[in-house]
Amino acid sequence: MNHIYIKELLASTEFDREVTAKGWVRTRRGNKNLAFIELNDGSTINSLQIVAELAAFDEQTIKNITTGACISVTGILVKSPGAGQLAEIQAKNIEIYGCSDETYPLQKKGHTLEFLREIAHLRPRTNTFGSVLRIRHALAFAIHKYFNDRGFYNIHTPIITGSDCEGAGEMFAVTTLDLNNVPKNPEGAIDFQQDFFGKETHLTVSGQLEGELAAMALSLIYTFGPTFRAENSNTPRHLAEFWMIEPEMAFYELEDNMNLAEDFLKTVIGHALEHCADDIAFLSKLYDAELKNRLDLIVSEKFQRLTYTEAIDILTASEKKFEFPVKWGSDLQSEHERYLVEQHFHKPVILTHYPKDIKAFYMKQSEDGKTVKAMDVLFPGIGEIIGGSQREDNYDKLLNRIREMGLKEADFWWYLDTRKFGACPHSGFGLGFERLVQFVTGMSNIRDVIPFPRTPKNSEF
Ligand code: 4AD
Repeated sequence: MNHIYIKELLASTEFDREVTAKGWVRTRRGNKNLAFIELNDGSTINSLQIVAELAAFDEQTIKNITTGACISVTGILVKSPGAGQLAEIQAKNIEIYGCSDETYPLQKKGHTLEFLREIAHLRPRTNTFGSVLRIRHALAFAIHKYFNDRGFYNIHTPIITGSDCEGAGEMFAVTTLDLNNVPKNPEGAIDFQQDFFGKETHLTVSGQLEGELAAMALSLIYTFGPTFRAENSNTPRHLAEFWMIEPEMAFYELEDNMNLAEDFLKTVIGHALEHCADDIAFLSKLYDAELKNRLDLIVSEKFQRLTYTEAIDILTASEKKFEFPVKWGSDLQSEHERYLVEQHFHKPVILTHYPKDIKAFYMKQSEDGKTVKAMDVLFPGIGEIIGGSQREDNYDKLLNRIREMGLKEADFWWYLDTRKFGACPHSGFGLGFERLVQFVTGMSNIRDVIPFPRTPKNSEF
C-alpha cells in the first residue's frame, strides 16, 4: 500500500512518484476541466490539494466528492505551482469510501465554538479541534517523557475510592443499589453494606493519597489519570471530569517541589512550542495574537515566588476595586490571582504558605502554627494551574488535622500507617491537564480542550 499521511506528503520533495492519500474532503472547487479538492487527514493542520481532470473520471465519482466525504486518491505527487504549499497530487484514481451530503453540519467555515460543542462528535474535523487535539497529545507525550527522563515511575491509582482526598465532599457516588428502593439499616441510614463494595464509594477527586504510598517505596512517582469533581462550577475553567498529573517525591521539601513544578511547566510548554509550531501559529492567527508571546514568556521568565501573606499585602495596597474583599484568611479569587499575575508581576507566580484553614488536611504545617507549606502556581489568563504542597509527615499532627476537619478517621487508616512506618519528608503537586492545554492553545473555554466535556447538566456523547 502506497498510503502516505498528508503531513509526510507535504514535507516531501520526492516528486513524480505515485502515492495514495486518504482523508476527508474539506472543499471542492473547480472549472469545467479541473476539480481542486482540499483533502485533510488530521495528521497536520494543512490540507493537501488534489487536482483531478474531469475527463478522466466518471461524473458520479466527481459528484460524490463533497465536503465531509471520505476518499482515497492515488496519483502522482508533483511540486505545487501554487504559493504556500510544496506538493499536490495529480489524481489518477479516486475511490469514495463514505459519501456525505448537504446535511453535513460543517459545510461552511466560521462556526461558533458554542455550536461546535453541540456537534462534538464531528468537531475534530475542524481546523481548530484538529489543532487542539494534536497539541493535547503532544503535551501528554511530553509529560510522560519529562518524568520518564528523570527516573519517575508512572503509577495507576484507583478511580473508584472509599476516601475523599481533598476533603471537600464534592464527589460523585458509585453504587449499584436500586435507587427506587434503597436499603436502610436499623438507624434509618442507607445500608451500604448491601452495596457492591459493601461500603460507600465515589469516583476519585485525586490520586494523591495513593500516589504518596507509592512514593514512600519508589521515591519518585507520578499519576496521569481522570479525576471527577461534583462541584457546581459553571466557569470556563472547571470540568466535572478532568485529567490530572500528580507527581509525588520522597525527600522533597517545599522548595524542591517549586523547582520541579517550574522546570516541568517550562519543559512541556517548550516541547509544544517546538513540535506544534503549525498548530500554535494557526490558533494564534484565529483566536489570540498574543498566544506565542505568552508561551515564550513562560519558558524564558523565572516565576515570581512569594507567600500568601505578601500577596495579601500587595492586593490590599493596590488601588483596584475587587468584587470579593481581600482579607487574610480568605481564599484568593480568580480576580485576585489574575491581578497578581497579569497586572502586578507580569509573569507566572508561585504563592506559598497559605492559611491552614483554607487548605487540605494533608499539607505540612509551618512553624508559625497558622500556615501550611502549600504552593499554587498561577498563570496568566488561567489563574491556578498547579496546586501542591509538602505533606504532613508527623503522625500526631496529621491525625489531629483529620479530626479537626471533621473527616472520617476510619477512611484514612492506611494513609496514617505510612506516618507510622518509615515516614519521610515528601512533597507533590497536581497539574490540571485541561488548564495546561487551555493555556497552550489559547482557548478561552475549558470545554474546548477536551473531546467530550462533562459539566453540570451536560453529559452528551
Ligand atoms: O488544587 P487541587 O484541588 O489539588 C489536588 O487535587 C491535589 N491532590 C494535588 C496534589 O497535590 N497532588 O487540583 C489540582 C489542579 C488545579 O490546580 C487545577 O489545575 C486542576 O487541578 N483542577 C481542575 N481542572 C479542571 N476542572 C476542575 N474542576 C478542577 N479542579 C482542579
